Amino acid sequence: MDWRQIYQERLTTADEAVKHIKSGDRVVVTHATGESTLLSDALVRNAAAYKNVEIVHMVAMGKAEYCLPQYSENFRHNSLFIGGTTRQAVADGRGDFTPVFFSEIPDLFRTKLHPNVVLLNLSKPDEHGYCSFGVSVDYTKPVAEIADIVIAQINKNMPRTLGDSFIHVSKLDYIIEEDTPLIELQPPHIGDVERAIGENVASLVKDGDCLQLGIGAIPDAVLGFLKDKKDLGIHSEMFSDGVVDLVRAGVINNSKKNIHRGQSVATFLMGTRKLYDYVDNNPEVAMMPVDYVNDPRVICQNDNLVSINSCVQVDLMGQVVSDSVGLKQISGVGGQVDFVRGANMSKGGRTIMAMPSTAAKGTVSKVVAFIDEGAAVTTSRYDVNYVVTEYGIAELKGKTLRDRARALIEIAHPNFRAPLIEEFEKRFKTTY
Ligand code: COA
Repeated sequence: MDWRQIYQERLTTADEAVKHIKSGDRVVVTHATGESTLLSDALVRNAAAYKNVEIVHMVAMGKAEYCLPQYSENFRHNSLFIGGTTRQAVADGRGDFTPVFFSEIPDLFRTKLHPNVVLLNLSKPDEHGYCSFGVSVDYTKPVAEIADIVIAQINKNMPRTLGDSFIHVSKLDYIIEEDTPLIELQPPHIGDVERAIGENVASLVKDGDCLQLGIGAIPDAVLGFLKDKKDLGIHSEMFSDGVVDLVRAGVINNSKKNIHRGQSVATFLMGTRKLYDYVDNNPEVAMMPVDYVNDPRVICQNDNLVSINSCVQVDLMGQVVSDSVGLKQISGVGGQVDFVRGANMSKGGRTIMAMPSTAAKGTVSKVVAFIDEGAAVTTSRYDVNYVVTEYGIAELKGKTLRDRARALIEIAHPNFRAPLIEEFEKRFKTTY
């Protein structure tokens, strides 16, 4: 049958489509900016029809109303990476967090968390009947291949990204044609602290490096300080508007990459319309599933892979906490460890943790003698090469415990150095 006929036959409305979800089902929502807010809204409107529907979502950038207390009988959220809209539900016990490396999420769905339903947000079909997953290929494409029911919004605002990023119309069970705006992430505010961190990180980046940029304000801010570099490449789970500026300025050209030469590789995108228009139908960008992009065995095939991520706390041994504040789960590991592993395996590769020296409006130090009780180490002390704050760069690789502690104290905020020095002298039985 011609795909156009299939398409017409499967057209329905969002409210009709979500009626096919049953109580007890596991529903997977597209990651981050790829979420179909049209379908999420319909799901929540239909809440009274469900009992205990499990909503599995990675970063929820929409309203995540399924997390609200009034829907606790209808939905239970299982987060693979907590964000601002889901944090409270997990903290209150109305939702759960499942620790998992981003690279392993597709396999988790294949082996442990079978998806009954997936809610997609896709580009218009091309002349062969293929729609693109656009800004979110990550776990979304692998899940769409195995879910019992595939519900898809077809949206002209979803860019047609290239790479391993397509699904045929015949694989969609229910189709809703509606052009809603995509979720956007505005560029971060760059203050003096971010500027100093950006400059410090940029000093560690060499011409020809291949970059991974993590989630959060700091990795994004770093991009603004790379304007004088040459021949940079991108192999990153995500990127944002800052990459577009550097491509247009000729700084990023991917010319030195060993794999995907000439292309920026990512698995999801977070930015504004400027980014979404840039990636539309653009062969300079390859979007692939996360079990490929974030596989350390793939990452390390590019030489000089530099991973730039952010964190919450670093202790004097160099243990990095990135996804919890004490017992409170604030985010997830995402691709941090995938890329730290890949960068360490890459010839000439380097791992950088960049963070402001303080948090909570300057009231707490991020360099600490001991990580908070209940916090979980995200990246081990064996894996971190550099820690960067606005006060400088601590190189940890190859340093003794004593020397790495000293290097970390040097980049702590001056207001918090005294207790760290006291702990240093007690621990190492030597003067600082
Ligand atoms: N003590 C107390 N609170 C702290 C803290 C600390 N040491 N460090 C951070 N926080 C709080 C902040 O105050 C903020 O709280 P608020 O939202 O109430 O203001 C919250 O934690 C988030 O911190 P912020 O610095 O605003 O986050 P960010 O958007 O820059 O992201 C991480 C930083 C660490 C949360 C983020 O990089 C992350 O989740 N990393 C792990 C995953 C990863 O790196 N993946 C790789 C690519 S996806």
